[in-house]
Amino acid sequence: MMTCLQCVLFVVNVVLVQIAYATPRHIVFIVADDFGWNDVGFRNENISTPNIDKLAKEGVILGQSYVQPVCSPSRSAFMTGMYPFKTGLQHLVIWPDQQVCSPLNLTFLPQHLKKLGYATHAIGKWHLGFCKWQCTPTERGFDSFYGYYTSHEDYYKKTNIRDGHLGFDFRDNMATDKEAIGTYSTFLYADRAVELINKHKKSQPFFLYLPLQSVHAPIQVPIEYENLYQNIHNIGRRKFSGMVTAMDDVIGNVTEALKSNGMYEDTLIVFTSDNGGWPTEYGNNWPLRGSKITIYEGGTRVTAFVHGAGLEKTGYTYNGMLHAVDWSPTIVAAAGGTISNTTIDGINQWDNIRTGESSSRTEFIYNLDDLAPYQTGHAAIRMGDYKLIVGYPGLYPGWYPPPTYTDDNYIKEIPYDGSQDDKIQLFNLRDDPNEYNDISDKFPDVVKKLRARMAEYHKQMVPANYPNATSAANPKDYNGFWTPGWC
Ligand SMILES: *[C@@H]1O[C@H](CO)[C@@H](O)[C@H](O)[C@H]1NC(C)=O
Ligand SMILES: *[C@@H]1O[C@H](CO)[C@@H](O)[C@H](O)[C@H]1NC(C)=O
Ligand SMILES: *[C@@H]1O[C@H](CO)[C@@H](O)[C@H](O)[C@H]1NC(C)=O
Ligand SMILES: *[C@@H]1O[C@H](CO)[C@@H](O)[C@H](O)[C@H]1NC(C)=O
Ligand SMILES: *[C@@H]1O[C@H](CO)[C@@H](O)[C@H](O)[C@H]1NC(C)=O
Repeated sequence: MMTCLQCVLFVVNVVLVQIAYATPRHIVFIVADDFGWNDVGFRNENISTPNIDKLAKEGVILGQSYVQPVCSPSRSAFMTGMYPFKTGLQHLVIWPDQQVCSPLNLTFLPQHLKKLGYATHAIGKWHLGFCKWQCTPTERGFDSFYGYYTSHEDYYKKTNIRDGHLGFDFRDNMATDKEAIGTYSTFLYADRAVELINKHKKSQPFFLYLPLQSVHAPIQVPIEYENLYQNIHNIGRRKFSGMVTAMDDVIGNVTEALKSNGMYEDTLIVFTSDNGGWPTEYGNNWPLRGSKITIYEGGTRVTAFVHGAGLEKTGYTYNGMLHAVDWSPTIVAAAGGTISNTTIDGINQWDNIRTGESSSRTEFIYNLDDLAPYQTGHAAIRMGDYKLIVGYPGLYPGWYPPPTYTDDNYIKEIPYDGSQDDKIQLFNLRDDPNEYNDISDKFPDVVKKLRARMAEYHKQMVPANYPNATSAANPKDYNGFWTPGWC
């Protein structure tokens, strides 16, 4: 028999537990780099990702979670809730010697979370500009940063070469970090994440943004991971698969650290790729069409899931439409806040994801990029089940089965030749998610409607901010490191 005091305490405890579960206290936002639709164990039996699979299956797999076709635009959308075509970031990526960063008048996700009392940390790849300190993570809302500012780099040497200029790129907060050189970055990021979780003062809510280097090129992996895939004959794909499993170990170690610190039950984990897999670098999006850099589904519809605190309905695939711009308002809402600025493009989808109700989003822009020559620029819109692509769709327009038994480099880019500039393609993604049947001839009225809507968005486009490289960025003037100070 409970005494009355025990019974009161029991009731209080139940209420507290329910409050604790209704909204997550801690949030871990993991971004994988160039991780393809068919590069994850829960879709592909040839890949080993036990930690991701477990979280995804216990949580909610996101079946229609969209991003931009390349890196910087997706990351800017995650941080700001704004479409890249409105912020000048619609054309390719920010190169290390371009005087560009995600516009400084936009509020970043961690800035919103700091107002809600969060400790905010970023570990991994920034890629949102660094030509002046105001562009860098510790001046855009993160209490700490550990990682690199530029794009792809060597996983061990921490060097990035651009336009003949070679520089190191690795930082611990604002300071250059030479100690990191020589160690595979995936291990460094896992260790730092675990260290931050162990040190975290439990009374404060915790936000970790973990944009991992994995599994972007260069294809580099410790031999013990490569050796897990002796059955894969294609050497590039074998190493790439090892990189995926190394990344999965980071997620395992982060999960363990959350558990051993009593934070796991109170943590929401969000996982997404930044764009589709890159077939010439062994990523795979099969059966989706296209890849990174293209506007087809293989470039833009990515592996993503949520897990943990606050989710009421779990263990299923949520097929509501989500876009990269939705993450900022959605994560802020999960943290118990709101973004009052209604001019952002992102929609708060927290309740939708949490309860499984239909998406609040019925349309989105894949990209709008007018920068001539188009080459990598593109335009596409989604409305309901329909998708309209106007002009050149990108370098890899085909369907690429996993390269298990093929030779390396069996995929060829289809270079831009101008012939597709006036081409229109219409797909019904409900009937034809892999984009085999262009139905634009059969449904001229639908084409007309989507073109008209695209034209409305086009009025809000700002010119792409894609300047020529400057030699003022040259690391030789900055002790050999890519360093702010030249814009
Ligand atoms: C797994 O590998 C086999 C052998 O190459 C291949 O036939 C199969 O399609 C692969 N599975 C997936 C989901 O890619
Ligand atoms: C933000 O700054 C850019 C220039 O960097 C400017 O074009 C844009 O209008 C500004 N946006 C707002 C809403 O102030
Ligand atoms: C609202 O957001 C836009 C885009 O993020 C930004 O340019 C503008 O300054 C914001 N307005 C206010 C009042 O915060
Ligand atoms: C995860 O932790 C284990 C045990 O400490 C360690 O051996 C392993 O290298 C870690 N994995 C990564 C990717 O850091
Ligand atoms: C950028 O580079 C191109 C090609 O080298 C050159 O034609 C153009 O004038 C440059 N633009 C500026 C603003 O310097």
